[in-house]
Amino acid sequence: MKILSIESSCDETAAAVIGDGRKIISSVIATQVEEHKLYGGVVPEIASRRHCESICGVVRETLSQAQTELSGIDAIAVTYAPGLIGALLVGVNFAKGLSLSTGLPLIPVHHLRGHIASNYLCFPELEPPFLCLVVSGGHSHIVEVKDYTDMRIIGRTRDDAAGEAFDKAARTMGMPYPGGIHLDKAAESGDENAFRFPIPKVSTSPYDFSFSGLKTAVINLIHNTKQKGGELPVNDLAASFRKAVVDSLTKNFFLAADDLGYDTLVLAGGVSANSLLRRRTQELSDAMGRKCYFPAKELCGDNGAMIGSQAYYEYLAGHIADAGLNAAATRSIELG
Ligand code: KG4
Ligand code: ZN
Repeated sequence: MKILSIESSCDETAAAVIGDGRKIISSVIATQVEEHKLYGGVVPEIASRRHCESICGVVRETLSQAQTELSGIDAIAVTYAPGLIGALLVGVNFAKGLSLSTGLPLIPVHHLRGHIASNYLCFPELEPPFLCLVVSGGHSHIVEVKDYTDMRIIGRTRDDAAGEAFDKAARTMGMPYPGGIHLDKAAESGDENAFRFPIPKVSTSPYDFSFSGLKTAVINLIHNTKQKGGELPVNDLAASFRKAVVDSLTKNFFLAADDLGYDTLVLAGGVSANSLLRRRTQELSDAMGRKCYFPAKELCGDNGAMIGSQAYYEYLAGHIADAGLNAAATRSIELG
């Protein structure tokens, strides 16, 4: 089954043609990041306008690279939640138009379920059940993936998402948007023990995260150093901050894996590209005889391929939308 999938939830206009949920036949991403960089973050109205301009060309190019036309496609899939509402609406309406004009089924896909599915494209043997740490710019969840379309959140952030914390800390260190990747790079040549940041704990739930205190601690440290006219050891700061975030993520993730008895662990979302998070997850899994998976780096960020992969399983579960499909800025991954 060939699915044409569309993703426009944030600042990438993306599409893909995916075979049977597991094979990337073509995948095209038009990023807007250079424009949003000027403002230090995504400007929602600009994002929507760029999606409007790019979506036709991106879908045409995706079909052309797959050496097919719409007549060779079996279903249309689209990210419908969560994300920037104006950005999502562009993809949803485009997909609805395609579905109405071709008569092909329309499959609505939850963006975070798509991130998890990135792993299905990289690892043919991977199947639920598994425990997944979903860490992106807007969300940090520990999710029990009981089946392809049956998920339960067992831990979540109480404030900032991990990606958001990385981006805000990076910005204070003078790095361009989106800062997570720059902070990660700087951290590789820094001393992670140079500064001691608190590992945040949420007293009411052992699996929940909190990153806002950590973010404030690094911002205050930077401002105080600057006020005193001191030199900022950026690489050491980046390394110490990254260690605190990764320690917090892995501590709760592995605790949940122990408590719930999961031997298969999966990372997903933009932050799963983080070098230390990947290394640490691998080391801890190896030490405990667990199997761990994380997507190829090019599939960690937003892309259309992951939406086409998840769409296949949503289709098999009978999750088909009608012409009344709407976008939603927020929606739980449990609801799909
Ligand atoms: O999943 P994603 O592409 O978009 C959302 O759905 O939010 O995640 C983007 C987030 C950004 O905050 C970005 O800085 C972060 O992922 N990110 C990283 C790295 N690469 C991307 N954070 C830490 N280390 C990285 N290497
Ligand atoms: Zn994303």
